[in-house]
Amino acid sequence: MTAERVTPAKAAKPKKKASSVALKMLMAGTGTLLVLFLFAHMTGNLKIFVGTEAFDHYAHWLRELGSPLLPRTWFLWIQRGGLTVAVLGHIFAAVVLARRARAARPVRYAHRPKVQGSYAARTMRWGGVIILLFVVFHILDLTTGTVNPVGDGQHPSANVLADFAPGRWYVTLFYALAVVAVGFHLRHGIFSALRTLGQQSARGERIAKAVALALSIVLVAGYLSVPFAVLTGLVK
Ligand code: HEM
Repeated sequence: MTAERVTPAKAAKPKKKASSVALKMLMAGTGTLLVLFLFAHMTGNLKIFVGTEAFDHYAHWLRELGSPLLPRTWFLWIQRGGLTVAVLGHIFAAVVLARRARAARPVRYAHRPKVQGSYAARTMRWGGVIILLFVVFHILDLTTGTVNPVGDGQHPSANVLADFAPGRWYVTLFYALAVVAVGFHLRHGIFSALRTLGQQSARGERIAKAVALALSIVLVAGYLSVPFAVLTGLVK
């Protein structure tokens, strides 16, 4: 009997891979944080219907939040850090899961079946990229004011009014398309998260679908109401 030689390659420990369930939990967890932010942000935006002063007051309050326990704007920066980590975690899990799905099917479908999940499910990747590009533009527009015609750091309402003025209808159109993309992304995302985090039964799936659709509609309507109110002169 000859003793088996252990080559360094054999002796090396196999690389530990995160399980797909753990990655799905990461997607669902980070997605939940992002959805919470989206609802809080939408609610804040609706303040503009109370008045431009109320809107600006709210924006200033966001900067004071947490003080005197924390120095001014710290909470805002902690929130920004949390959001960035959540976005990066969400993208990381999405890319790894997509690669694994592709590796599991090395031979591509010669003919893609027409009915393959919902429209939202098939457009998650591109939807995500569009949303990311929109957020970059949006921050340069309404947070830093770099590409905003007014760019007044003290009066965010002035920036919003300038942005969606009738002469700049194309900006409103761009925002509307991005918000609809967010809606589609969310409908599928909320449904998938409920599936990952919860029970799976025919009734459960029906409820998850209805909840995902209802939340997405509320969010899209809430977000769209602001640019259209400015465009139509309802908010001045
Ligand atoms: C179409 C309606 C929207 C309006 C009117 C709006 C308005 C604003 C305003 C005024 C700010 C600056 C707040 C401040 O300086 O205090 C802001 C920041 C921001 N918005 Fe929006 N937003 C809209 C949609 C969205 C959407 C759909 C997303 C995400 C997909 C988003 C993500 C953000 C982020 C990440 C910031 C930066 C927050 C920060 O400064 O830390 N917004 N938005």
